[in-house]
Amino acid sequence: MKQLSPSILASDMLNLGNEIKKVEKSGAKYVHIDVMDGLFVPNISFGMPIISAVRKCTDLVLDVHAMIEKPHRYVEEFIKCGADIVTFHVEASTEQEIKDSIAKVRTLGKKIGLSIKPKTPAEAVYQYINDVDMILVMTVEPGFGGQKFMHETMVKVSAIRDYAVKIGKKLDIEVDGGINNETIKIASDAGANIFVLGTAFFKSETPVSSNEILSKTE
Ligand code: DX5
Ligand code: ZN
Repeated sequence: MKQLSPSILASDMLNLGNEIKKVEKSGAKYVHIDVMDGLFVPNISFGMPIISAVRKCTDLVLDVHAMIEKPHRYVEEFIKCGADIVTFHVEASTEQEIKDSIAKVRTLGKKIGLSIKPKTPAEAVYQYINDVDMILVMTVEPGFGGQKFMHETMVKVSAIRDYAVKIGKKLDIEVDGGINNETIKIASDAGANIFVLGTAFFKSETPVSSNEILSKTE
């Protein structure tokens, strides 16, 4: 199923409650929360207090994207704060740490995603696909909103979709970075079904309708 996941990184943090209401009104079912540590990416955003605050004011699916080093240290806490999906980067962990994190999220009954940066090959996630719910293919270098969509990442989305089909795995593929009215169709055609929108959602001059944007993928 196709979903929009508006990223609060581009929202007005002083009015976060209202911004979350905007997401609900748009008809989107997910909200994307970008956690950055200033090490894995050259930027620091927000962490546990914001996840907890968002959890208290909505029943939307909290789609937490951890751009942090050694995420296994925090997956449990993200879930305690209210995350429904915890996604972290393969580049930030050892193989054993990734396996431990997957096991921990499973024990806690939540969904798990694995993410790759633009220069990381699709093959880096193949061995984990059977054990996760989602693969997040970054369509910009992680760290900042408002960047330009990298078309060259689409071959990886297609490769991962083909691989999942081949092994008979029902897999969500999320794309994140530079997604707008036009690029959403390109990403959908390549095989993605969850679309993160930061700038295109929160900086839009007119209210965004989830159905309207998703209809561009048809
Ligand atoms: C970037 C973040 C994105 C970001 C997307 O590192 O992971 O979620 O908010 O923002 P836009 O849609 O503006 O590219
Ligand atoms: Zn993100």
